[in-house]
Amino acid sequence: MAFDQPQILNLPKIYDSRGNLSFIESYAQVPFAIARAYWIYDVPGGQVRNGHAFRTQQEFIIALSGSFDVVLDDGIQETRFHMSRSYFGLFVPPMTWRRMDNFSTNSIALVLSSTPYDADDYIEDYDEFKKAKSNE
Ligand code: TYD
Repeated sequence: MAFDQPQILNLPKIYDSRGNLSFIESYAQVPFAIARAYWIYDVPGGQVRNGHAFRTQQEFIIALSGSFDVVLDDGIQETRFHMSRSYFGLFVPPMTWRRMDNFSTNSIALVLSSTPYDADDYIEDYDEFKKAKSNE
């Protein structure tokens, strides 16, 4: 499977009457070594997490609780992914403009990243992103 495109990946789900369980390991369910995890929570209704792209960072986004939308833009077209199940993850390749919106009450977005936090990896200006994409 090529990991140059955004894609929804189906995670293992261990059904159990005591409660289901899913898991992720580096290079198994995600195509990179997990260097960092962060999560977004307590999002007020109607809030939009601003758009940005990463130069090198790969991400994997899971709706651990509730639901939200991830809108990805590859410089040509925008695709909206509705995340509402904790056994699906969205792989986001580098150089993809992304924003998140439509958060439900008490939703939790878990983001696994291929790199430690690096402010220099961010592209925060959409025109700069478009320009970089057209030069790829
Ligand atoms: P940011 O990624 O800019 O989120 P958003 O684009 O949704 O606002 O992160 C917000 C702030 O959190 C920013 O000041 C940097 C800090 N931050 C870290 O220190 N470490 C991290 O791993 C992340 C993701 C953010």
